[in-house]
Amino acid sequence: MTDLAGRNALVTGGASGIGAACARALAARGATVTVADIDAAGAAAVAGELGGESWAVDLLDVAALEGLELRTDILVNNAGVQHISPIQEFAPQRFRDLLALMVEAPFLLVRAALPHMYRQGWGRIVNISSVHGLRASPYKVAYVTAKHGLEGLSKVTALEGGPHGVTSNCVNPGYVRTPLVDEQIADQAAAHGIPEQEVLEKVLLTESAIKRLVEPDEVAALVSWLAAPEAGMVTGAAYTMDGGWSAR
Ligand SMILES: NC(=O)c1ccc[n+]([C@@H]2O[C@H](COP(=O)([O-])OP(=O)(O)OC[C@H]3O[C@@H](n4cnc5c(N)ncnc54)[C@H](O)[C@@H]3O)[C@@H](O)[C@H]2O)c1
Repeated sequence: MTDLAGRNALVTGGASGIGAACARALAARGATVTVADIDAAGAAAVAGELGGESWAVDLLDVAALEGLELRTDILVNNAGVQHISPIQEFAPQRFRDLLALMVEAPFLLVRAALPHMYRQGWGRIVNISSVHGLRASPYKVAYVTAKHGLEGLSKVTALEGGPHGVTSNCVNPGYVRTPLVDEQIADQAAAHGIPEQEVLEKVLLTESAIKRLVEPDEVAALVSWLAAPEAGMVTGAAYTMDGGWSAR
């Protein structure tokens, strides 16, 4: 399929996990992909594999994003991190950092990309939210707050962008098989005081009707469909891929 031929895409956090899978899926549909990540070597490796470009950037440095102008047709806001702690022990700076990376940076990148998208009357913004953009879990106050904020950013972008041919949507996976989840399994084991092997079944997937992790390629297939011409009437939506978690 080459329905994204001639389109430029920017994927943040594209060096690893879901972002790398999205970069590959968009490139497979013909897009020229820029892989943005704080992991310069990882971004260069994925970009090299796809014939794209890499952008070594620390998206926590939000002030540096304020004057940015992006000439990208497809923006995938994917970079994110997790931090597990009860609220009363949650480090205030860590809270601010998660909101900066997962709300403020996406806002600034959308802000930087819209003028080009509006000029050409076409653009696609896909925000990698989470089931935690729609539901809460204990010990994840910054992550849940940030993802709920990202949902708001995405919906306002959809309303403003609609008349200009720009769509904005969220994708809301349950637990995906990536390094971010591998780290959480260890952290959750400590927080709940149970062995790591019980975390998947008894903590992570208790609400999921399907008791397995989502694969990064499954998320990427949805993201690349949202970027494609056939999804032109899909905007302001939150697409769950959570094995039934949010059906409860
Ligand atoms: N893995 C899951 O279960 C899951 C579920 C739902 C949503 N998500 C979301 O998907 C997105 C990707 O997660 P993943 O699981 O692929 O994680 P990952 O750790 O595999 O990849 C995240 C990428 O973001 C990059 N990154 C981190 N901080 C950065 C910064 N300051 N500047 C630039 N890049 C930075 C990392 O270097 C890494 O390449 C995140 O937004 C996450 O919240 C993940």
